[in-house]
Amino acid sequence: GYPAGYKHEPTTEFHHQHEMRLQQEAIENVATTLNTSNKIRLSIGRPLAESGVWSTSLNPANPTQILAQIEEANEEQVEAAVSAALAAQPEWSSASLPERATILRKAAAYLRSHRSEINAIEIMEAGKPWLEADNDIGEAIDFLEYYAIWAERLDTERLDSPAGETNQLRYRSRGVTLVIPPWNFPLAIPMGMTAAALVMGNSVILKPAEQTPITASYIVRAFEHAGLPAGALCLVPGRGETVGAKLVRHPQISTIAFTGSRAVGLDIIEAASHVAPGQTSLKRVVAEMGGKNAIVVDMDADLDQAVPGVIYSAFGFAGQKCSACSRVIVHRQIFDAFVDRLALATSTLIVGDPRDPAIQVGPVVDDAAFAKITRMIEEGKKGSELLEQGTLPDSDGYYIPPTVFVNPDRQSPLYREEIFGPVLTVERADDLDDAIWRANDTIYALTQGVFSRSAQAIARVANAARAGNFYVNRGITGAVPGRHPFGGFGNSGVGFKAGGPSYLIQFADQQVISENL
Ligand code: SER
Repeated sequence: GYPAGYKHEPTTEFHHQHEMRLQQEAIENVATTLNTSNKIRLSIGRPLAESGVWSTSLNPANPTQILAQIEEANEEQVEAAVSAALAAQPEWSSASLPERATILRKAAAYLRSHRSEINAIEIMEAGKPWLEADNDIGEAIDFLEYYAIWAERLDTERLDSPAGETNQLRYRSRGVTLVIPPWNFPLAIPMGMTAAALVMGNSVILKPAEQTPITASYIVRAFEHAGLPAGALCLVPGRGETVGAKLVRHPQISTIAFTGSRAVGLDIIEAASHVAPGQTSLKRVVAEMGGKNAIVVDMDADLDQAVPGVIYSAFGFAGQKCSACSRVIVHRQIFDAFVDRLALATSTLIVGDPRDPAIQVGPVVDDAAFAKITRMIEEGKKGSELLEQGTLPDSDGYYIPPTVFVNPDRQSPLYREEIFGPVLTVERADDLDDAIWRANDTIYALTQGVFSRSAQAIARVANAARAGNFYVNRGITGAVPGRHPFGGFGNSGVGFKAGGPSYLIQFADQQVISENL
């Protein structure tokens, strides 16, 4: 594999009885610890008086169930966290790249040995079906291992040095990095951003997503276990509009790594451009934002591949992925056959509490998501034709039926905006050129796919695709670090791909030392 030594962490094989039993036991054990007396505190590497303000983490499959109380940072604590991170900076940045890489590998080992426990937390806190949770832990481990290897490679990069001159390229840490992750990959995405910033010698302030703070707390546990110096990673929970906004605007934050919605990303980019008097560095923003991703189904597509590929891309984790498919564009010659099979497949999806391993689609993450997606479906019915909706369990959980519209109103929010839920539109294309035009008719440029048996057609769609990640004859979610470096362009983000060769250098300043001997 490339880079040498990197191996993708395999998924747990839940089809084996003993793996299934272990995960079931972990869910039962973890469930006994998730209640109002489970408290997650702000952590900055030293004792700190409590803020006295607590929020809760809920189970979206059973929203009256409180899983933990989370301390919300106040202004004083935000300042204390920035000071702690700054104070930790000299010691941490003086460690060598290989030394820091070792800490990442130890953190990966911690995650491996706590995998079923963290899976259980994600199943209950994020509403993830078993395999989705397990893949999230696997991806977090992948990020740690992949960035550890790349850090060591950067350490050995050499410049041309003619006789009598020695030239060295160095990577200097930039200072305190603020990490603002989403809740949908509650371990992998914050871990990827945190690990990259740390391995380049920066201290990190992690403001976890409000919906998934318990999962995020395992990032701190993993690095504590790995021997990261105190203060080099601070966990600062709180609301985005208050704590997040304050940190983004703090003059002593040097880099901001964000993954989330376009609206919040644009606000961060704008706020980061402001320079306070005396501020010695300019903030760099790495932002992964949304998508409105399409799959093209060509006239000769293998429907045995295309239907499940589209179903999983659209409804896996209830469509709550920036990579999810929300538009299918089908060649007119195959349209009716495809739509019939898609409707049938949608109607048979099993929706329910993901503690049950047979569940294919769980709840959406919280009441706000439930309300927004429900509204978009209701408004969608006005201009677009409802084809099929899945069946719902009898429950108070935040369940949305997998929903398919055909012949969408192409100017409607249903068609234009990122929904982040289990909602898909299907439209007819006259020919391949028409399909390509439709697929690219969005401000976003994140993922896209094609199902076709013609090499020529595949090449035409791929070459025209406005998308950072393009997939052929497979689903368009589930990028694996090192194999499918992930990230978009257009309105989908700024910065280099996560899990790719250029990601780490965003978290450093390059310096060249030229010595004439
Ligand atoms: N990396 C994820 C995927 O590919 C999205 O964040 O599905």
